[in-house]
Amino acid sequence: MALYTIGDLHLSLGSDKTMEVFGEAWRDYVDRIAAGFSKLNSDDVTVLCGDLSWGMSLEESLADLRFINGLPGRKILMKGNHDYWWNTAAKMKRFFAENGLDTLDILHNNCHWYGDRALCGTRGWFYELDQGGHNEKVLLRELGRLETSLKAAGTAEKICFLHYPPLFQGYQCPEILRLLREYGVRECYYGHLHGATQRRAIEGEQYGTAFSLVAADYLQFVPKKICD
Ligand SMILES: [Fe+2]
Ligand SMILES: [Fe+2]
Repeated sequence: MALYTIGDLHLSLGSDKTMEVFGEAWRDYVDRIAAGFSKLNSDDVTVLCGDLSWGMSLEESLADLRFINGLPGRKILMKGNHDYWWNTAAKMKRFFAENGLDTLDILHNNCHWYGDRALCGTRGWFYELDQGGHNEKVLLRELGRLETSLKAAGTAEKICFLHYPPLFQGYQCPEILRLLREYGVRECYYGHLHGATQRRAIEGEQYGTAFSLVAADYLQFVPKKICD
């Protein structure tokens, strides 16, 4: 039994937005994801850090969700900025049940458990959103979701998963970093960065938390093992 994470699968099996158009880095990516997961076992757990399906609705994402469901082990899904199919937890759970997607869970305003460790997280906040009109509102909502998730973990050791990086070279989100520090989060995994921006990713310890980028193309489509 082991805990893994990977983000940004960007599947498009039921829509027409294949990532193959982005060149060599994404060539055969669906097969490479399947190969990357093939070494996992049925009792493993993988947190998927958002940007999972290009579908615009649950129905349009069904082929992608079926593909994810068929990968070995339990998968805990998080929302990225491109997950337009995302819905209320109740609707998603019902949709999963109706379609036999029985290896999927949702990390959203809650926490999950891996042994006595808590798996916490939310989409997070990124500077790209500063251009929108509701920045403060969205930031506060994300901070609230993160704190709800961290609080749900009580005094347990917390591993945090975000879609947006809370920091990279030349950028920090102080509000998110403060929450990670306040709640004693020692490890934080994030996705979202692709292509040239991956060179600005921060890996390693900052302010007492170890950060790792786990976007699928950065990991060569092989889930990153966190612990046994
Ligand atoms: Fe992405
Ligand atoms: Fe993203």
